[in-house]
Amino acid sequence: MKFFRRFKILGTGSFLPEKVLTNHDLEKMVDTTDEWIKTRTGIEKRHVASELQAASDLVREAAKEALKNAGIAATALGAIIVGTISPDTMFPSTACWVQKDLEIPGIPAFDISAACSGFLYGMDIGSAILPAIGKPILVAGVDVLTKITNWEDRGTCVLFGDGAGVAILAPTDEDKGYLSSIIGADGSLGELLVQPAGGSRMPATHETVDRKLHTVHMKGNEIFKHAVRTMGDAAVAAIEESGIPPDDIDMFVPHQANNRIIEATCKRAKVPLSKTHITISWHGNMSAGTIPIAFHDAVSKGLIKRGDKVLFAAFGGGFTWGASVLVF
Ligand code: ACO
Repeated sequence: MKFFRRFKILGTGSFLPEKVLTNHDLEKMVDTTDEWIKTRTGIEKRHVASELQAASDLVREAAKEALKNAGIAATALGAIIVGTISPDTMFPSTACWVQKDLEIPGIPAFDISAACSGFLYGMDIGSAILPAIGKPILVAGVDVLTKITNWEDRGTCVLFGDGAGVAILAPTDEDKGYLSSIIGADGSLGELLVQPAGGSRMPATHETVDRKLHTVHMKGNEIFKHAVRTMGDAAVAAIEESGIPPDDIDMFVPHQANNRIIEATCKRAKVPLSKTHITISWHGNMSAGTIPIAFHDAVSKGLIKRGDKVLFAAFGGGFTWGASVLVF
């Protein structure tokens, strides 16, 4: 095996807010049915942050679990990277708020805005800077999409949930890390999935709030076509660059926005559904939080073991995408 970048994942963790919203709850809020949501997306329920919970609160809890599993103290960390599109504040970054909570001032901390691909962007960049940092790096994916959801828009509000996942990367000489990693973007398609207001293009006013322009605006079926093609192509490219045949992949952990997108990606990448960890039914689309939560779930259930080859693939707003083959 030829390694693209060597690193070891010391530990993983995740956190989901306590409150659960089921499809049946949503039936009472908008014109939808449990049946429609389940057959079109695979989602049955999602977790919803409380009024007091922001992105950094979710990451802090996931980080505590990941540090415990890694067997290191927060003070051993050399950097914090958080993928999110629903930060606590426009600035400081969520990573800085996490650093404050973990009480480890001094080390670099920054966010990555790559929507659903945020965790794979974070892993790629984290593993690239690891030799320079020389100490473990905390990479988180988190989104609190329910805080930027229009609860009157059935086309989006049934899809999203909240959650955070964390992986801690460390330098290693062992045969572990990336066989391949790809990240990419196409900004020309950004308008298809956007939070229009609240930035410098359209600063917050009473009117933008009245018109719900601070919520997710999405052309779902157009995105669907791009997602199927782009996530599949990225997965195929990551497998090709890894130098191993698709049969050698032990587990595929895809971004989970829609069961039908996952099934199409599996077909394109020639990875069977039986080797794919699908968790969408119990959490919905948590954007950057989805992959690290599903990854942690598979690791903690023993479905991914040391030495296994894991394929990741994601697609999201921007558009952005990422795919990688990792030896765990
Ligand atoms: N309940 C009932 N009916 C609904 C609902 C709902 N919640 N939402 C839409 N419909 C209706 C539509 O109005 C439409 O009705 P019509 O035929 O009478 O016009 C019909 O269902 C079909 O609508 P479509 O939008 O064509 O449905 P589709 O099969 O494409 O499923 C979905 C919609 C689930 C949004 C799908 O397009 C999808 O998953 N898209 C990709 C989402 C994604 O991956 N986003 C990127 C990541 S998110 C991020 O980065 C933050």
